[in-house]
Amino acid sequence: MPAPDPIQTVFAMLSPENRANPYPYYRAARELGPLVPTPLGAHLVTGHDDCMTVLSDPRWGHGYSAGISPIRPGVAADDIPGSFIRMDPPDHTRLRGLVSKAFTPREVVRLRPLVERTAEHLVDRALGSAEFDLVSDLAAVVPITVICELLGAPIEDYQRFDAWARALARGLDPDALLSADELRDRATAAAAFGEYFRGLVAERRARPGPDLISQLAAIDDAGDRITETELLDICVLLLFGGYETTVHMTGNMVLALNRHPDQLDLLRERPDLIPAAVDELLRFDPPVQFTNRVALRERRLAGRVFARGEAVVILIAGANRDPRVFPDPDRLDVTRFAGPGSAPRHLAFGLGAHFCLGAQLARMELEIVLATLLRHAPGLTVLDPAPSYRETLTIRGLRSLRVRLEAAG
Ligand code: HEM
Repeated sequence: MPAPDPIQTVFAMLSPENRANPYPYYRAARELGPLVPTPLGAHLVTGHDDCMTVLSDPRWGHGYSAGISPIRPGVAADDIPGSFIRMDPPDHTRLRGLVSKAFTPREVVRLRPLVERTAEHLVDRALGSAEFDLVSDLAAVVPITVICELLGAPIEDYQRFDAWARALARGLDPDALLSADELRDRATAAAAFGEYFRGLVAERRARPGPDLISQLAAIDDAGDRITETELLDICVLLLFGGYETTVHMTGNMVLALNRHPDQLDLLRERPDLIPAAVDELLRFDPPVQFTNRVALRERRLAGRVFARGEAVVILIAGANRDPRVFPDPDRLDVTRFAGPGSAPRHLAFGLGAHFCLGAQLARMELEIVLATLLRHAPGLTVLDPAPSYRETLTIRGLRSLRVRLEAAG
């Protein structure tokens, strides 16, 4: 049962025991009110409309450059994955603009055959084994293959990326909840990633290819405003942001569908619903559970005045189940966003200036993985009814998911 008191509710939300299903606590938080004080100082923003208000208002930001961010006092900015996802204008606008020039919708279309080939190969290989781990053998391999192709990074280095990305993902959680080892691992991973990309950027400068790093390095060479550190941070952001999130969303998606066999059956009959289903699954169980913002100047929100520098935590996963926006929100309904005019208003990819730059790519990867599973392996059985979750809070996802696939016919 959800605890009735704000502090207890927040503790319950953060508790490792509730990682498998934090949703009753998100609901309890929302029922406590639009703003819930947390033991870590920031207020939790619980309702969909208020989350949208903060995300789309540039007067809420990150405040690192202005030196007013209280979110991580005492932490070196270099220790957490950042780049422009943690910046405010004008630097955010400049760097996002430069990446958007290279990472275009056409680039996403170019990657489609690679995603299809990779998903088909992995599913076919899994069909031959009695059981396989969907997280490590499918969910992780598709996005890392894609992001390596995009950046021009060698796929053979995958194991290293995986370990660093895990340390960074844990490092996104509030510092107060991290052990000394986890804080050290975060700093080590950030430094290792930086060093790795320093080498790769130097190589691409010497021998440019069609990849994004070569293009960004050329922008630098052409005299545009991007420093070496900014370039390295962008590489880390794209690899980390494009990997951890997509791995966990793939796992969440398959588990949710397996727990809703009627919805899975519907998708088997109506594969045309797959794009709408992916958005519904992103609403239902998103990998990014929350994000932070700081008032860059005095702001009023839900009847409270926030002084410059005060922080909020935007509860994305809770807002996605706000019944005022999504009727019967705890029900998975793959037709929810299928009708004309039913644009998905979920916040899984954020909103406003920091809206996920990889949303189109992520949707494509998820749609192809789902379609491939349905086409090649209509018989999908999850063997572990209560799979365990990673300890991470900000990005929530499965440690592993043992499944058995059965071919058509
Ligand atoms: C930003 C979610 C996949 C690159 C974000 C944000 C969210 C998000 C919620 C906004 C954070 C905030 O406002 O504080 C997701 C989810 C994904 C996914 C759920 C997969 C299911 C990807 C992929 C890439 C990517 C595949 C790139 C290859 C980025 C970048 C930003 C971002 C660069 C920063 C945008 C900015 O600050 O302007 N993502 N993401 N993401 N994402 Fe994603």
